[in-house]
Amino acid sequence: MSITQDDLKRAVAQAAVAYVPVDCIVGVGTGSTANFFIDELARIKHKIRGAVASSEASAKRLQQHGIEVLSLNDAGELSVYVDGADEITRHLHMVKGGGGALTREKIVAAASKKFICVCDSSKLVDVLGKFPLPIEVIPMARSYVARELVKLGGQPRLREGFTTDNGNLILDVHNLRILNPVELETTLNHIAGVVTNGLFARRGADVLLLGTASGVQTLTV
Ligand code: A5P
Repeated sequence: MSITQDDLKRAVAQAAVAYVPVDCIVGVGTGSTANFFIDELARIKHKIRGAVASSEASAKRLQQHGIEVLSLNDAGELSVYVDGADEITRHLHMVKGGGGALTREKIVAAASKKFICVCDSSKLVDVLGKFPLPIEVIPMARSYVARELVKLGGQPRLREGFTTDNGNLILDVHNLRILNPVELETTLNHIAGVVTNGLFARRGADVLLLGTASGVQTLTV
């Protein structure tokens, strides 16, 4: 029987549980790999105090498992945040936001001591940018931000029919070859009307658990 992408996602989700300290509040990401992690977390729910979710969808899944969901303001600093990525490099810089939850993901990651990224091997790249870079924008700034993104060499496309959990829009920026993610993340943050960009480089992951056909590989910087 051949190994599926879901098998790889389940394997990294299981491996991530080892990074969850007893009696802690866990930061939980969004997406299909994060969903596998939530399902694994349910098995040890008696050992944790609860979770902070990076999206309404993850909050719902956690609650369905009987895991208490706390607000970040009540939880304070988190010891660990576990989430997937759309692309990741060996420097553990990431593109995230394929699911549109980038802003809350960036906030919960920033408030966590350790970021554990869980991915199947298809997500590991040499250069970020093949996956269109998501940018969350305030609706009235959509056209202005799009023009600024064109000046930076990208081709922004509005994610049709999508509103973020924060009531904003997503521009997906195509055709970027991101050679300096830290610099680009900073540049994008300075465009008026940008709420968050999907580059997670200034605060990248601390550990990557990469699901491969020969097992889970652990990469650190
Ligand atoms: C959600 O907004 C994203 O940042 C996800 O972390 C990312 O899209 C990974 O999702 P999958 O685990 O479904 O690939």
